[in-house]
Amino acid sequence: MEIIIASSPAETATIAADFVCRVLARQERPVLGLATGGTPFLTYRELISRYERGEVSFHTARAFLLDDYVDLDTDHPERFREVISRDFTSHVDFPEGVVYSLDGSRSRPEEVAAAYEEAIVAAGGIDLQLLGLGRNGHIGFNEPSSSFASRTRLILLAETTRRDNARFFDYDLESVPRLAMTQGIGTILDARHLVLIANGRAKAAPVAATIEGPLTAMVPASALQLHPRVTVLLDKAAASGLQHTDYYQQAHAATA
Ligand code: PGA
Repeated sequence: MEIIIASSPAETATIAADFVCRVLARQERPVLGLATGGTPFLTYRELISRYERGEVSFHTARAFLLDDYVDLDTDHPERFREVISRDFTSHVDFPEGVVYSLDGSRSRPEEVAAAYEEAIVAAGGIDLQLLGLGRNGHIGFNEPSSSFASRTRLILLAETTRRDNARFFDYDLESVPRLAMTQGIGTILDARHLVLIANGRAKAAPVAATIEGPLTAMVPASALQLHPRVTVLLDKAAASGLQHTDYYQQAHAATA
């Protein structure tokens, strides 16, 4: 893993935006994997600023969301399709209809999941997948006990996840959905480059378990150890539970 310990959340966002811009510049038809949640918000703000300054364009790109809630009204503001549009995609020049999201309102999750997997393959696979990290070690909504081989599917949200996300629902736990659709861990591992961002002390324990702990389904993000190209972007607080920070900093300086 490439582990980068940044001075601030803003710096993690700048570095993540650099990776996105590099993919956009290099690929003829770039395919981005987008995450929601609080963490990537600064990265999206940085990308919007670069777009407004004319430094980057998304007009050849396509994007797939990682996950979405099930059973929220189709136009609910916390549906991730709405969130990503509000926070990012509507502010830049993605063409119409190329930002794919999981439809959590349909009654046949297996069909939705299979169609999503097919759409990712048809797009040529995901070049760069942005990831946040749950306090319980989840990536996407792959909660602890998710198989490393899991594919896109319906999942029951963990209680910790619902509590963490209650802030987006006026702190009303009852209104946080219980079910979600998520790309599986196996689906995420198919992306060519994974960029995980974590900021803040609340992420220190799951970051340490992800990077330095054993491979275990109880820490879904530990599956990233199996991927050949992973970048972990951390602020100092999120890195504070790691044992080998000196080595990571030296390794990054030596190979950057
Ligand atoms: P957060 O969530 O970015 O809001 O901390 C991360 C996640 O649950 O994946």
